[in-house]
Amino acid sequence: MPDTQIDTRPLKAEVKNFSFFYGSFQAVKNVSAPFREKAVTAIIGPSGCGKTTLLRCFNRMHDLYPGNRYAGEMILHSRSPDGSVRPLNIVHPSTSPIEMRMRISMVFQKPNPFPKSIFENVAYGLRLRGVGSRSELSGRVETALRGAALWDEVKDRLPQNAYGLSGGQQQRLCIARALAVEPEMVLFDEPTSALDPIATSKIEELIDDLRERVTILIVTHNMQQAARVSDYTAFMYLGELVEYDRTAKVFQNPGKPLTEQYISGRFG
Ligand SMILES: Nc1ncnc2c1ncn2[C@@H]1O[C@H](COP(=O)(O)OP(=O)(O)OP(=O)(O)O)[C@@H](O)[C@H]1O
Ligand SMILES: [Mg+2]
Repeated sequence: MPDTQIDTRPLKAEVKNFSFFYGSFQAVKNVSAPFREKAVTAIIGPSGCGKTTLLRCFNRMHDLYPGNRYAGEMILHSRSPDGSVRPLNIVHPSTSPIEMRMRISMVFQKPNPFPKSIFENVAYGLRLRGVGSRSELSGRVETALRGAALWDEVKDRLPQNAYGLSGGQQQRLCIARALAVEPEMVLFDEPTSALDPIATSKIEELIDDLRERVTILIVTHNMQQAARVSDYTAFMYLGELVEYDRTAKVFQNPGKPLTEQYISGRFG
């Protein structure tokens, strides 16, 4: 998207003076940033800067471990069927972590299918949400597999174990599993780092298609990938958000010397 264009997309999420602590260690430091609806935002930065930590706050994954603490606000703007928008603080103690995990899906670095059939991997979340009818399940599984650009490769082997798929197919299956529950956001944590270039480009094409339907956050160490797939880029360093802007701006004319050093590979 050209730098000068005004983005009219509404905000889907927003972090405001947001921090995260593993016990006494502060891994995310007072970060503020907007995330626009149906935009792809890349989170980049050197190893250990807090990218995964920030991503996992969005679906309250840190609540699974004691001693972790959130501070500040992480707002999800939810649209009701009547069109009204209701802000919800994702990390507020009264917000259900289970609800957040249902509404915000995550795709991890390594494909992690369940030891179940291809069909059951995608149907799993739907069953949890009470979808019981075989015909509805079949329809929604097919839609999700099509959405993840995997349907043609698996439609004749849905009852087979997911472990029989290639790594790239397994990752697309995990994306189908994430999409099946019609999430409001999808979080990708280095989704292609375990894949070959062909499987990687398939996932990138897929992310490009998904942006029409869902808000996406993607952590990546691959600068070309960030530049190719994202509308916005957030550069983090030592837990802080150093720069946040349109991807074109960040890569062509970064505002901070640190960002310029990182994206040009002259770091440290
Ligand atoms: N469970 C944990 N307990 C304590 N500290 C942690 C924990 N997980 C991560 N950290 C620390 O928090 C900081 C941020 O880690 P995080 O995994 O978010 O980095 P990252 O930017 O995703 O790095 P990478 O690019 O290597 O994946 C690091 O200093 C890390 O050592
Ligand atoms: Mg990480």
